[in-house]
Amino acid sequence: MESFLEVGQEIAREAGALLAGYYRRRIGYRLKGAYDLVTEADLASEKLVMERLGARFPDHAVVAEESGEHQRGAEYCWYVDPLDGTTNFAHGFPAFCVSMGLERAGEPIAGIIYDPLRDEMFTAGRGTGAYLNGARVEVSKAAQLADSLVATGFPNRNRHRSINVHFYHQLAMATHGVRRAGSAALDLAYVAAGRLDAFWEFGLNSWDMAAGVLMVTEAGGRRSDMHGEPHTLASPTMLVDNGLVHDEMLELFAEIFAGHYRVPLPTVNG
Ligand code: IPD
Ligand code: CA
Ligand code: CA
Repeated sequence: MESFLEVGQEIAREAGALLAGYYRRRIGYRLKGAYDLVTEADLASEKLVMERLGARFPDHAVVAEESGEHQRGAEYCWYVDPLDGTTNFAHGFPAFCVSMGLERAGEPIAGIIYDPLRDEMFTAGRGTGAYLNGARVEVSKAAQLADSLVATGFPNRNRHRSINVHFYHQLAMATHGVRRAGSAALDLAYVAAGRLDAFWEFGLNSWDMAAGVLMVTEAGGRRSDMHGEPHTLASPTMLVDNGLVHDEMLELFAEIFAGHYRVPLPTVNG
């Protein structure tokens, strides 16, 4: 475990430095879907991570955002997002990271999320806690939504079908505020570090969340889908938080799924 985390951090740090170099040069992007951006940096970072993982752990499987599945069916599997927060990155908005989560036989055992601009390395190992630059972190102590700062995200694909604006509005009314910073992996790391009290999103991919979900639970937080059912990397919805506000979040979500709004969305003309 120690060596998985050590090697993973080495690789994430190297990929992060590469991303930071591209970021300072303000490179261009192209669209891989209607609003789904990809840059040369996504591809270069993924190539680097794939080469390093292949050299250090040749018998491990990898699921990586830009190149898909490699060596399906191995005991160990890495989930790699080589650049989480591409839209931010492409516009010069400083919130992005490298995310690498490792599962053994389907169970998360290690997570690494590296923010190269702030030089923040978030790590977690199964049963050994969550860390930021080597110092232990824990989820926040906010006991109710009314005292919470929460976060969400919106999908890049099929965004016209997203119903999340309804959840966004209700949560904005029930909390101190909702952040949409544009990197799901960093949102998860921030819940683990107690900077956010809760985070939810529809339609995340395995590479967005594999590292972060372990980080949150190792930091003492709770994880489920948005209906309160057990969450897996294949779940269509995700909720993580400090554990204390989980039931309140689920209660509010259940009302919204049922079409009941505590505070109706205002209409444009009053
Ligand atoms: C996206 C970011 C964003 C989230 C989207 C993801 P990408 O990942 O994590 O915060 O809202 O759902 O797709 O495309 O920047 O790797
Ligand atoms: Ca992502
Ligand atoms: Ca990505």
